[in-house]
Amino acid sequence: MSQTRGTFGRMGFILAAAGSAVGLGNIWKFPYITYDNGGGSFVLVYLVAVVVIGAPIMLAETLIGRSTQLSPVEAFGELGKNAIGGRAWSLIGWLGVLTGFVILSYYAIIAGWTIYYIGQCLSWSFGGFSADAAIGLDSSFGDFLANGPLQITFQALFMAMTVGVVLFGVRAGIERVTKVLMPVLVGLLLLLVVNSIWSPGFGEAMRFLFHVGPIGAGAILEAVGHAFFTLSLGMGAMITYGSYIGSKSSIPRSAAVVCLFDTLMGLAACVVMYSIIFSVSEAERLVTFSKSSTILFTTLPRIFYELPLGSVLAPLFYLLVGFAALTSTISLLEVVVAHFIDARHWSRRKATLVAGSAVFLLGIPAALSLGASPTMGSFGTGGVFNTLDYAASNWMLPIGGLCIAIFTGWFLDSRITRAELEKGHGAFPLFGLWRFLLRVVCPLAIVWIIYAVVGGKSFA
Ligand code: PHE
Repeated sequence: MSQTRGTFGRMGFILAAAGSAVGLGNIWKFPYITYDNGGGSFVLVYLVAVVVIGAPIMLAETLIGRSTQLSPVEAFGELGKNAIGGRAWSLIGWLGVLTGFVILSYYAIIAGWTIYYIGQCLSWSFGGFSADAAIGLDSSFGDFLANGPLQITFQALFMAMTVGVVLFGVRAGIERVTKVLMPVLVGLLLLLVVNSIWSPGFGEAMRFLFHVGPIGAGAILEAVGHAFFTLSLGMGAMITYGSYIGSKSSIPRSAAVVCLFDTLMGLAACVVMYSIIFSVSEAERLVTFSKSSTILFTTLPRIFYELPLGSVLAPLFYLLVGFAALTSTISLLEVVVAHFIDARHWSRRKATLVAGSAVFLLGIPAALSLGASPTMGSFGTGGVFNTLDYAASNWMLPIGGLCIAIFTGWFLDSRITRAELEKGHGAFPLFGLWRFLLRVVCPLAIVWIIYAVVGGKSFA
């Protein structure tokens, strides 16, 4: 096994895990769901969820991966075989593989938009910027959404890129891509944050982001679900990446860096976008930003083309967002691929091509649900795309996370978990706190939220 299994280099895990975590969840999704859910309270719940649920589960997943050096289904089967329940624990791994499948199928569509937007920005840079087209006031953005073949083409392109990287395997593909592109994306986002400080909407944006008010149970579930989504937790991505870590890396340190970095990236994206949104009058805001799920594509071009060098920065920005999405899609596909390699002994090539094609096919109805097909657009709650996103982030990930927390907290020997967390790290004084959060706080919080949502409770 160890000969065929890839491993990360020294900084490889941090980079790859951060690459998986930081993606469209931070730059596309977090700003728009925070906008829809009224700002401050939603952000607060999300931050608490990152600390008390996300971080402990990230430690749990990573240690499961490193201690077994196996992908999720096999890892749970192996660790669970001596526990009550036996190999049935591997069902958690199966749920993860399925969740990876579902997320990737719709995620690749928005990721594909970044490719389209690179082209769009290049044409603005050379042909002159049209504010109407950028903010969706003319029909071009709607036309793009309603153009089924175009949606599928960009989705296919993005899947092809993902398959391409995953084919090269762990070190040659994943690590190399991440190492170069993450720092550039961070630099550009920081530049935008600094730039937004002088914009007239900055004060209002900060108030919106940090002003705490009442919040409903559905929004709490969404905030917790997003903590899972944005940290790539609850489906075994961190188990899979953890299985490629060597014994010299410290799991607690890596996890802390990834959680902090991911959270800052999400908040930075909000600051940048809200500073633009709150610069315009409320009346105009209702027209221009009415479809919140597209604000990444409708707000940002406007600011870029007012900046010096904007015509260079705009296409570069969407290129970097595309790469951030790519480092996430490769982790999603890697979970599925690693499973077929470990369990079925398929070659990496076969596993990647089969899984990639299947995900692409599953994504087609979602791609058509954004405007091309009224049938797909009215399926479930808000169409196929939204239904898949809702099911995966708000239900499948938290339920997966719940099972991982219970398994690691209650069924794994604490000598094993402690040894793994201290390997490459030294003494871990927070071990008791970690175990308490995992055994008691995470399960109770998740079960309570699900109970509240199912029971229709509102905390407003
Ligand atoms: N964390 C990624 C993002 O925020 C999405 C993701 C979810 C990736 C689950 C892997 C696993 O964009």
